[in-house]
Amino acid sequence: MRNATVRVAAAADLHCRVDAPGRIRRLLGPAADEADVLALPGDLTDHGLPEEARVLADDLAAIEIPKVAVLGNHDHESGKAEEVAHILSTHAGVHLLNGGTWIFDKRLGFAGTKGFAGGFGDCALQAWGEETLKRFVYEVIEESMKLETALAKLEALGLHTKIVLTHYAPVHATLVGEKVELFPFLGSSRLADAIDRQTVAAVFHGHAHHGSPRGATVGGAPVFNVAMPLLRAKLDRRYVIVEVEAMRPGEASHAQEQPM
Ligand SMILES: [Fe+2]
Ligand SMILES: [Fe+2]
Repeated sequence: MRNATVRVAAAADLHCRVDAPGRIRRLLGPAADEADVLALPGDLTDHGLPEEARVLADDLAAIEIPKVAVLGNHDHESGKAEEVAHILSTHAGVHLLNGGTWIFDKRLGFAGTKGFAGGFGDCALQAWGEETLKRFVYEVIEESMKLETALAKLEALGLHTKIVLTHYAPVHATLVGEKVELFPFLGSSRLADAIDRQTVAAVFHGHAHHGSPRGATVGGAPVFNVAMPLLRAKLDRRYVIVEVEAMRPGEASHAQEQPM
């Protein structure tokens, strides 16, 4: 039987700064020996500065496994998110997703987007009333639609094992530990609605530094809050590793055709 196990290491909220070169390499470097892929769901830099991205790119380039990421709100702080993404992709080979997809070894599909805030379930903010408030809600609706489209694209390609990266939380379970008044600003269940339109093996997000490590969508997709400050405080780890079974499209159909 072919070995279809893929090990994904994940850590968010690296908040890389110019005064700490080598820090991320030291913290995440061991993942190269333990995992096949490194997933980085946002707040890669502290203030979204190109100089921070260059420091991070140097560190990530030394971690020699494929890397996939989305940006976080901090990466947008200086209005240079595109430059940050460009530096990380060209200098460190990071596959930056902004509503797009990336496929590892023709067998494991990644769909990712930053996401946005807006709250959860029947308390989610609705696009009604003032124009400003509507624009706020449209932002997360658009992010959710990008995610849904990316997941559908992977499914259409025959990639039945899929991983989602968002920076904002898609469920409130992984926010428990934060002040409850903050929950609506830390994520949106509209992201989970998009995730649950497909079967998803794991969702990684960050942003909630004081939340909880594990949760799930209503549809049962496992959700991991991998904000590094949270992992350090609650699990004494710098990253988590999740193993998934991922068959290539041809292998999957071949396996299904095997007699019992
Ligand atoms: Fe953060
Ligand atoms: Fe954040």
